[in-house]
Amino acid sequence: KSSNGHPLNAVSLQDGLETSSPFSETENAESTVSITVVGASGDLARKKIFPALFALFYEGFLPEDFIVFGYARSKLTDEELRDMISKTLTCRIDRRENCEDKMDQFLKRCFYHSGQYNSEEHFAELDIKLKEKEAGRKSNRLFYLSIPPNIFVDVVKCASLGASSANGWTRVIVEKPFGRDSESSGELTKSLKQYLKEDQIFRIDHYLGKELVENLSVLRFSNLVFEPLWSRNYIRNVQFIFSEDFGTEGRGGYFDHYGIIRDIMQNHLLQILALFAMETPVSLDAEDIRNEKVKVLRSMKPLLLEDVVVGQYKGHSKGGKSYLAYTDDPTVPKDSLTPTFAAAALFINNARWDGVPFLMKAGKALHTRRAEIRVQFRHVPGNLYKRNFGTDLDKATNEFVLRVQPDEAIYLKVNNKVPGLGMRLDRSDLNLLYRSKYPREIPDAYERLLLDAIEGERRLFIRSDELDAAWSLFTPLLKELEEKKIVPELYPYGSRGPVGAHYLAAKYNVRWG
Ligand code: NDP
Ligand code: BG6
Repeated sequence: KSSNGHPLNAVSLQDGLETSSPFSETENAESTVSITVVGASGDLARKKIFPALFALFYEGFLPEDFIVFGYARSKLTDEELRDMISKTLTCRIDRRENCEDKMDQFLKRCFYHSGQYNSEEHFAELDIKLKEKEAGRKSNRLFYLSIPPNIFVDVVKCASLGASSANGWTRVIVEKPFGRDSESSGELTKSLKQYLKEDQIFRIDHYLGKELVENLSVLRFSNLVFEPLWSRNYIRNVQFIFSEDFGTEGRGGYFDHYGIIRDIMQNHLLQILALFAMETPVSLDAEDIRNEKVKVLRSMKPLLLEDVVVGQYKGHSKGGKSYLAYTDDPTVPKDSLTPTFAAAALFINNARWDGVPFLMKAGKALHTRRAEIRVQFRHVPGNLYKRNFGTDLDKATNEFVLRVQPDEAIYLKVNNKVPGLGMRLDRSDLNLLYRSKYPREIPDAYERLLLDAIEGERRLFIRSDELDAAWSLFTPLLKELEEKKIVPELYPYGSRGPVGAHYLAAKYNVRWG
C-alpha cells in the first residue's frame, strides 16, 4: 500500500474501480491542493491536462479542497479560461445526468493569472491569489509545466522563489523533452536541482500512465505462467512497436529539432522495455521499481549505427487524396534529414537476456495507428507436429501480444487442432480484449499521472539516473547520425515504412509482427 494509503495504488483484486475520494476527511479539512497549469493557453493543457483534471474531479478523486490556476502570458480573464477549457471537457467516463452540474462545479474552481515565465514578481502575484483561496490552511501546490522546454528553468526558478508553498509540499511536473542528449539533459537536471529537490520533480512519460503498460508488471509478477518463461531460454525476440497514421503536421517546428528517436524511442519505448525486462523489484515501492529499471538500462549496450534504420515520409497520393511529404511542412527545412521513422535492435548484457534481440520500431505517417509489445517465443524442441506447419516453423511459435492502443488487448497465439477428423492445426488467440471484459472506459494516462503526482506517488515518473541511463544509450547514435549526415530512407505517407526495417530484423532472424 502506498504511504498515503490511496486505494488505487494498493494491490487489490477487486473488480472495478474505486469511486470514492482517496483523501481522508481529516486531510481534506486541513489542507488544500492548488494545481497551476503553466502554459494554460497551449495545446497540451487544453487537450489533455484540463480534461484529465475534470475527469478526476468527476470520479471523486480530487481532494475536497482543490483549485486549478491557469498561468500563461496570454491575457485572459477567469471567465475566458473557463470558456476555453469548457470546450474540451467531456463526461466520457459515465454520462450520468449530473454531468453539466459537475462541469459547472469544476469550472468554478478554475482561475487564471497572466504573467511572464521569467518574472518572479508575476509568480509572487500568483502566490497572493493562491493564498487568498487557500485561506490560511495547509497548502500543497502542484505546478504542471506545459510549456516549451527552453523556458522550463525560468519557470521553475520563478515559481519556486515566488510561489512555493510555505507550509505544505510543492511539486513540479515536467513534460518531455528532457534535453536532446546526455549533455543537455544533464544540464537541465542540474539547473532544475538548483531550485528543487529530486523528490519534487515529476518527469512525466505519459506512456507509463497507459493502462496496458501499468498492467505489464501485474501480468509478469502476479501470474505463475509468465515469469518462468521471461528469459532468453524461451523468448526469441521482443518487439516494441509504435506507429501513427498521421504525420507531424502542425508540430513540424518542434519535431524537426528532435526527430522520432528522441520523440518516441528514447522515452516511451525504452521505458516500456525497461519495465518489460527488469528483474523483480524488492517491493512495489517507487524507489525499488526505479532501481530495477536503472539496472536493466545500465546493462544495455549503446545503440550502434549498423543496428539502426532511419526513414522519412514522402508525399503520396491515395484514393484521390494527396498526402504531403514531411519536408513540405513550411516549418521544416527542405533539406531536413530528421527521421520520422526509425527501427533499431537493442541488446541487454545480463544473464536473463543475453543474445535476445529487443527490436524497436517507431514511425509517423504509416498505414496504421498502434502501439504494441510483441513477444515471440522459441520453437518447441522436437515438435511432434512439425510436419503440420510446412516449412515455416516460425509460424508455429507462440507469440504474446500486449496491444497498448487502440482497442487494448492482451493475447497469446497458440497452436490448436481444428475440430473434425484428421489432424489440421490452426493458430488461435487466447484473447483478453478489454472492451469485452471491461466495458467501462479506460482512464486517460494523464489522469493516472496527475493523481499520482498529487499523491506523491513517484513510481510512474522518471528519476534523474534513469534519464541519464536512457540518454547514454542513445546519445552516441544520435551524434553519429547527425555528424555523418545519414540520409533517411524515404517511404510513402501511409505505407508500412522503409524496407530497411525488414532487413534489420532479418539480420537477427526476426520477422516483425
Ligand atoms: P505549446 O506550443 O502550445 O505551448 C504552450 C504555451 O506556452 C503556449 O500556449 C504559449 O502560451 C507558451 N509558449 C509557446 N511558445 C513559447 C515560447 N517560444 N516562449 C514562451 N512561451 C511560449 O505547447 P504544447 O501545449 O503543445 O506542449 C507543452 C509541452 O508539452 C511541451 O514541452 C511539449 O513538448 C510537451 N508535449 C506536448 C504534447 C502535445 O500533444 N501537445 C505531447 C507530449 C509532450 P502564452 O503565449 O499564452 O504564454
Ligand atoms: C508524444 C509525442 O510524446 O506522444 C508525439 O511527442 C506522439 O509525437 C504522442 O504523437 C503519442 O501519444 P499517444 O498517447 O497519442 O500515443
